[in-house]
Amino acid sequence: MVSTGQRSSLREALTESAPSATGQPGAVGGGKTGAAAASKPAGGCENGKQVDARFVEFIDVEKRYGHFHAVRRLNLGIGRGEFLTFLGPSGSGKTTTLNMLAGFERPSQGVITLDGKSVDRLPPYERNIGMVFQNYALFPHMSVADNVAFPLSVRKAPKAEIGPRVIRALEMVKLERFKDRKPTQLSGGQQQRVALARALVFQPTLVLMDEPLGALDKKLREHMQIELKQIHEMLGVTIVYVTHDQSEALTMSDRVAIFENGAIVQIGTPDALYNEPATAFVAGFIGENNALDGIVERVDGNQCLVALPTGLTTTAMAIGDIRPGAAVQLAVRPERIVGSGEQADNRFRATVDGRIYHGNHQRLLARLPGGQVLTVKIGPDAATPAGETIDLGWRTADCRAFPAGVAPDDNTANTGSVS
Ligand SMILES: Nc1ncnc2c1ncn2[C@@H]1O[C@H](COP(=O)(O)OP(=O)(O)O)[C@@H](O)[C@H]1O
Ligand SMILES: [Mg+2]
Repeated sequence: MVSTGQRSSLREALTESAPSATGQPGAVGGGKTGAAAASKPAGGCENGKQVDARFVEFIDVEKRYGHFHAVRRLNLGIGRGEFLTFLGPSGSGKTTTLNMLAGFERPSQGVITLDGKSVDRLPPYERNIGMVFQNYALFPHMSVADNVAFPLSVRKAPKAEIGPRVIRALEMVKLERFKDRKPTQLSGGQQQRVALARALVFQPTLVLMDEPLGALDKKLREHMQIELKQIHEMLGVTIVYVTHDQSEALTMSDRVAIFENGAIVQIGTPDALYNEPATAFVAGFIGENNALDGIVERVDGNQCLVALPTGLTTTAMAIGDIRPGAAVQLAVRPERIVGSGEQADNRFRATVDGRIYHGNHQRLLARLPGGQVLTVKIGPDAATPAGETIDLGWRTADCRAFPAGVAPDDNTANTGSVS
């Protein structure tokens, strides 16, 4: 959505800040802003490789409502320039965590630092943080341009500077033509772009987004995901993004933090989470997964032998505290289940219960002798009619065994396991 020429002028407009009449940077009143925050530093986060992970820190942060733990002993570092997503089911503590960073909620315990300084005593407007919410939260009586100008006005930016900066922010989200309209005269996607321009126009150190695309239809949402990612790359601004949509998280993020019951159960790059989930919950939440129950027969280093209910056995990677006799949940990705021609440490006969053609691949529902049905993703050309018996298998490395039914411990520090 942004051409290269446009890109450099936008970068200048939003990150370098045109000199004002007073010689001050454009974003006034926000403390430390501008180039330091907005340009992507060499030590920033690229493809999940994070260097400066201390730009934002949560240190032993808890949030309780009465006896209810909304967020449990959270320890988390966020890198400058990083796109970090909080992903988890509804009620898992994502918004509460984001709101403590924004300053809308105070931690019951612990410290949050921004650029090395505690934000405990800073009200939201002094944190220099841009916010985008699901419901846009635009001022209905103001024009698009006035909505976007608002953060600059409250920060007392020089008048001569406001107009050009608003236009540049609107150009970035391709809405300059609509600057005189009222929010009600725009579609949902356009309103969310206005909210985005408003969140970025004052060169915030950090932008927090809480399910910003949740109200948009699927196609527009996917389009906006790409735009957001481009804007992030262009400006190098640090983004903390909340969603319950795993594909959205995987598409945009440098790293993803998986929330469950008020705790981060795992944090890592999208591919690390997909390939090396640390818990059965993460394996099920990210991507497609076959979950099988079993009992551990033997443990050998980081591998184990697991009995399925019908006496079939499989070797698996032992993840976490796996002991002989313990109940485990096995996880195997549909695309890691292979046919007879390919290398596998474990082999089974299965009956094809159903086949769904998807154009570039097909999905088989394959029933093991014990009755468990596996989803298998195979190439589009294999002919496997329903009712046929086939050979299936997987490698030990592609089957993960997790302790069954483990809930996060309320008493231990919640650092997430960094993968
Ligand atoms: N003001 C509040 N008072 C009591 N409980 C709250 C309050 N705000 C949030 N909660 C509870 O805290 C938990 C986490 O909420 P939230 O952070 O909004 O979850 P998420 O954003 O992951 O859906 C939920 O169980 C929610 O009901
Ligand atoms: Mg929420």
